[in-house]
Amino acid sequence: MDPRDWDERYRTDELVWRADPNRFLVEEVEHMPPGRALDLACGEGRNALWLAAQGWEVTAVDFSAVGLAKGRRLATERGIRANFVEADVLTWDPPARAFDLVIVMYLHLLSEDRRRALLRAVTALAPGGTLLVVGHDSTNLSEGTGGPQDPRVLMSPEEVAADLDGLEIVRAERVRRPVSTEQGERVAIDTIVRARLPERADLP
Ligand SMILES: C[S@@+](CC[C@H](N)C(=O)[O-])C[C@H]1O[C@@H](n2cnc3c(N)ncnc32)[C@H](O)[C@@H]1O
Repeated sequence: MDPRDWDERYRTDELVWRADPNRFLVEEVEHMPPGRALDLACGEGRNALWLAAQGWEVTAVDFSAVGLAKGRRLATERGIRANFVEADVLTWDPPARAFDLVIVMYLHLLSEDRRRALLRAVTALAPGGTLLVVGHDSTNLSEGTGGPQDPRVLMSPEEVAADLDGLEIVRAERVRRPVSTEQGERVAIDTIVRARLPERADLP
C-alpha cells in the first residue's frame, strides 16, 4: 500500500487502530528508564503517545499525512509532546546513533524492503539501545486472525532476527494476542523481536 492508500484508510473520525498502545510494547518497555525513542511507521501514534506519556522524548515517523495529523491531534488533546515526521521509512535518514529505543510495529513490507527499513532502524540506535520489532507472524494466516492476507509481507522471528546484523538478539518469539472480533474472541499470532546494539559496537 502506498501513502495515498493509507491516507484513505485513516480518513475517518474513528481511530483505525486502537487508542491504547500495543500490549507487547508495554510489556517490553514499561520498566526501561525513559530516553529518546523513535517510532517508525507510527500510524495514528498510539504507541508514540504512550511512550511520550511515560516520559520518553519521541520522534514518530510515517508516510501518511492523514495518520500523522490524527496523531498530532491526539497529542494536543492529551497535552503530550511528540515530534511527528512525514517520511518514507525506506528512504528517510534518521539521526545516527541517537535513540535509546527504536520501535517498528506492524510494518508489513516485502522482505527486501523490511530489511532496508530495519537497517535504517539499526543506524538510529545509540550504543546500548534497544530495537523492538512486532508484526503479524507468517503462521497468523492459517492459525490466527486478522492482519495482512499476503504471505509475502508477513514475518517470522527467525527472519527478523536475521535482518539485524550486529545486534544482540534478546528475544525472538511467536506470541499470541487475544483479539475481540464480531465472531467473538480470537487469537492473532505475532512475531516479536527485541534486540540490542552492543555498547562497544563497531560503528560505521
Ligand atoms: C498497520 S499500520 C501500524 C501503525 C502503528 N505502528 C501501530 O502499530 O499502530 C502500518 C503503518 O505503516 C505505515 N507505512 C507503511 N509503509 C511505510 C513506509 N514505507 N514509510 C512510512 N510509513 C509506512 C502506514 O502508513 C501505516 O501507518
